[in-house]
Amino acid sequence: MKTAITEMFNIEHPIIQGGMHYVGFAELAGAVSNAGGLGIITGLTQRTPELLAKEIARCHDLTDKPFGVNLTFLPAFSAPPYPEYIAAIREGGIKIVETAGRSPEQYMPALKAAGIKVIHKCTSVRHSLKAEQIGCDAVSVDGFECGGHPGEDDMPNMILLPRAAEELKIPFVASGGMADARSLVAVLAMGAAGMNMGTRFIATKEAPVHDNVKKALVAASELDTRLVMRAIRNTERVLKNAGVERLLEIEREKGAKLKIEDIREEVAGVYPKVMIDGDMDAGAWSCGMVVGLIHDIPTVKELIDRIMADAEQLIRNRLMGFLGAESKASLKVA
Ligand SMILES: Cc1cc2nc3c(=O)[nH]c(=O)nc-3n(C[C@H](O)[C@H](O)[C@H](O)COP(=O)(O)O)c2cc1C
Repeated sequence: MKTAITEMFNIEHPIIQGGMHYVGFAELAGAVSNAGGLGIITGLTQRTPELLAKEIARCHDLTDKPFGVNLTFLPAFSAPPYPEYIAAIREGGIKIVETAGRSPEQYMPALKAAGIKVIHKCTSVRHSLKAEQIGCDAVSVDGFECGGHPGEDDMPNMILLPRAAEELKIPFVASGGMADARSLVAVLAMGAAGMNMGTRFIATKEAPVHDNVKKALVAASELDTRLVMRAIRNTERVLKNAGVERLLEIEREKGAKLKIEDIREEVAGVYPKVMIDGDMDAGAWSCGMVVGLIHDIPTVKELIDRIMADAEQLIRNRLMGFLGAESKASLKVA
């Protein structure tokens, strides 16, 4: 399939694997890129720029295809050395960066000087337009359904994507709630040039996380995510568990007076406990509502091949089937 995104990133299929803390290691990024999508290493999961450089080198060993690095600008307990991370990305020969969180404006000159294409992930039309204005090449438009940080507007993709299509000149992919061919075909119809998946890629054979995480995703339904940290305007969609219940209890008690220190235990340092140790009750970790559409643990290639084959069937059989004989005849001629 050819879209503005496959052309821009020189990939076969319009499917991107979003950066994911403690999931987006070389194994997953390499597998996604080898399967014809765009794999993305999560920059800040690597504790230092030197470690990121090593992870990039490891991914080059796993694939000859393009892959990217995610740089997240979120409120953190202490700010990471972003210029050094960008230097590691540049020196690692990376040509695609997914930015997220705060605006990447301050770092655009350095990224552009290195010939890097920037796809900024954001959750509103106004932030997408700002990304376009500061020179981003594409946007990943992340709806309220998404795993991770949906922003504070609570705008689902059925509205957000067509609105983005009305306003944006640069190409965009749909993010949040994407799982299968139905997602891909639907968002192409709404004006997107591809899709970005997070949660779905965790339930794959190659995702380098504990089996408990994959099993929890298969077992969960679309009703099993919770929003946390709204009171401090850092809303995150997470999978419910005992740690999240504790966190929500503290949030209820503190109300609008909640401070990040009040919930540090439930949100800081949780990812390695969940993703490496498989401790599913450790605290808050991102998970999208799309978890309700995850029923198996295929290889990345099986997943991507299935999406692309089913998308073709959906377009040819289901959608074309809705057209009258006259329209079909004119399509054959065209
Ligand atoms: C476990 C997990 C960790 C994530 N970590 C990050 C991150 O560090 N940086 C980032 O930009 N997005 C992060 N995300 C968001 C994803 O890149 C993606 O935008 C999101 O998962 C899309 O929604 P979906 O889960 O419904 O597919 C994370 C998502 C998950 C599920």
